[in-house]
Amino acid sequence: MDGNVIVGQSGGPTSVINSSLAGVYKTAIDRGAKKVYGMLHGIKGLLDGQYVDLSEKINSTMDIDLLKRTPSSYLGSCRYKLPEISEDRETFDKIFKILDDLDIKYFFYIGGNDSMDTIKKLSDYAIVTGSDIKFMGVPKTIDNDLAVTDHTPGFGSAAKFIAATMKEIIRDGLVYDYPTITIVEIMGRNAGYIALWCGIANGAEDILLPEKYDYDEQKIINNIIENRRKGKKHHIIVNAEGIGHSTSMARRIEAATGIETRATILGHMQRGGSPTCKDRVYASTMGALAVDLLCEGKTNRVVGYRHGDFVDYDIDEA
Ligand code: F6P
Repeated sequence: MDGNVIVGQSGGPTSVINSSLAGVYKTAIDRGAKKVYGMLHGIKGLLDGQYVDLSEKINSTMDIDLLKRTPSSYLGSCRYKLPEISEDRETFDKIFKILDDLDIKYFFYIGGNDSMDTIKKLSDYAIVTGSDIKFMGVPKTIDNDLAVTDHTPGFGSAAKFIAATMKEIIRDGLVYDYPTITIVEIMGRNAGYIALWCGIANGAEDILLPEKYDYDEQKIINNIIENRRKGKKHHIIVNAEGIGHSTSMARRIEAATGIETRATILGHMQRGGSPTCKDRVYASTMGALAVDLLCEGKTNRVVGYRHGDFVDYDIDEA
């Protein structure tokens, strides 16, 4: 690599976002990068001049390995959407000035939808201004909602944790001598992948998904009453975060059925558990592949996984 590298993490943390970082870092060093910088708190931190020289922090193969195996975002994250170029060129000028001062030639951003939007805008700006900096997106999100990619690292690990937790909730719901209903609210923003997979895996009686926002509460209540009539003691409803309102839903269902109904909102505990093997391997492989692709001269791309193969595709599609 004939210049310096910068890498950032953005959006909600996952169990394996650091595995992607380790993949980028190790491959960049192996490929001869002079310096590998890390943005602190993503593009927002970079705008404030916050970055570190990663080679001062990561000194051995053991350090890389530890990074690869540690959940949550080592570099810190942000929730920040860049403005439209036409509305605010100043922000972009500022970012590119920082990148030029650091002699950055390769820019990697690990994240979900908003992060791909950041890569897209920066790539567009590079084209407009004739900058030779190359940009690559590395996918991660527990929501599994990035276009083109079949699997986003972080999804499986979150699903594994949630499915195991739901099993405990179901056992708990069965201990009393009276029937109970539990609504489990699962993350995913406006995507229902985790809710769907965990709901099916645990045999939930009802699964409410934002993609299919036509649920009929009366139908659920009738279903509960019918199941109760057949002797079923516990009824579990998986509610995706994109629908939300689990607590008020629980109150209404309890009033209508006379059965104790509780809402369990899993919240932030869903993102940082121990990863699945697949997630960790895919995350570090995608990080490494991102570096290889930029070295081949590609830019404005995103790494993905499609039909059994690691692929890359245009940032516009992501
Ligand atoms: O995008 C990942 C995600 O975990 C979503 O499922 C969820 O809606 C969001 O992040 C929550 O983010 P925050 O960290 O702002 O609570």
